[in-house]
Amino acid sequence: MTAVTPPNAATEAFITASEAHSAHNYHPLPVVVATAEGAWMTDVEGRRYLDMLAGYSALNFGHGNQRLIEAAKAQLERVTLTSRAFYHDRFSAFCTQLAELCGMDMVLPMNTGAEAVETAVKTARKWGYQVKGVLDGRAKIVVAGNNFHGRTTTIVSFSTDQEARADFGPYTPGFEIVPYGDLTALRGAVTENTVAVLLEPIQGEAGVLVPPAGYLPAVRELTRERNVLFIADEIQSGLGRTGRTFACEHEGVVPDMYVLGKALGGGVVPVSAVVSSSEVLGVFKPGEHGSTFGGNPLACAVALEVIAMLRTGEFQQRAAELGEHLHAELGLLTGTGKVTQVRGRGLWAGVDIDPSHGTGREISEKLMAKGVLVKDTHGSTIRIAPPLMISKEDLDWGLDQLRAVLAV
Ligand SMILES: Cc1ncc(COP(=O)(O)O)c(C=O)c1O
Repeated sequence: MTAVTPPNAATEAFITASEAHSAHNYHPLPVVVATAEGAWMTDVEGRRYLDMLAGYSALNFGHGNQRLIEAAKAQLERVTLTSRAFYHDRFSAFCTQLAELCGMDMVLPMNTGAEAVETAVKTARKWGYQVKGVLDGRAKIVVAGNNFHGRTTTIVSFSTDQEARADFGPYTPGFEIVPYGDLTALRGAVTENTVAVLLEPIQGEAGVLVPPAGYLPAVRELTRERNVLFIADEIQSGLGRTGRTFACEHEGVVPDMYVLGKALGGGVVPVSAVVSSSEVLGVFKPGEHGSTFGGNPLACAVALEVIAMLRTGEFQQRAAELGEHLHAELGLLTGTGKVTQVRGRGLWAGVDIDPSHGTGREISEKLMAKGVLVKDTHGSTIRIAPPLMISKEDLDWGLDQLRAVLAV
């Protein structure tokens, strides 16, 4: 593998034009991708990079996965959009098979993760008023500090990240924030007006934070006792990433509702969904919620292929096996003084770099120069989440580059 040289004029020109004509709501690494295949991306100058981010888990099955591309192409030739004003012939299979994968019985399809979280919030409130009997306007949803559930105005209303929140008020009321992993605080926050507890079973954006063992089962028990919905946002943690279909499975927990996105669309189209029981999702009547693109034929065709791939368990197993290897290797770095902590499950890791050896951003840029793409979060953390189909050789090569950057 050849070392990567700094960006040349072609890259600079693409970046300058992008910055001139797009809002500066991201701070991308200075790489301009032109093509991608499997776990590798190639930039406009022909340099190759190992993708160790996988679109924040949207690309669990790799770039250009042939089964997904074929499913999309076949559907492109048939019908791509009907709106939900009509039925289409991919819809029932998608809903039935996704519900089955989740062990639940009803699906409400949307497009992006944030839309699915918004849908979960609306569902919980309506369930609270109509089924639980909460007085109108009093419904509360308990969430965790350092959460990341998306970027809409309601969702940033219950974020604790000032960058995500500041200047976007007035904020939507009806949320109670407790520290993640703190059961006593959660117990104290649940009242008769609580309709749901909304959690990421592993907090991704916060730095791949795994809650203390026993936390999720205790949340399950508490929510069941108090007649509160347990909503698991598995948008980033779900669909194979952690070595199981759902991260909740590691603790033997089945929530009342899964919120899914990212990998559900196979990195081809945006597909998200709320999956729950008919008692919960049955609260909706026509006109109360919807989306022009949600559950469209192209999305359903691709997602059906994703579900078929997950049904075999092959990707989950790979993530578990390679994940064990990844964590064993990363664990060795914690003894070097360069890395202070490594967290995660499966092919998903948050690596805290000792600040004296550079910020997460600086380490990400150095890795980019060596042909590996990762992303920093919260100052000194880098996130590693390669496609689940990455080869062991490529993963090892990526880890070699990390060791070289850290000089260990
Ligand atoms: C746990 C979680 N929920 C929700 C979202 C929002 O998804 P989207 O960016 O598709 O709106 C994300 C995105 O990173 C996420 O990680």
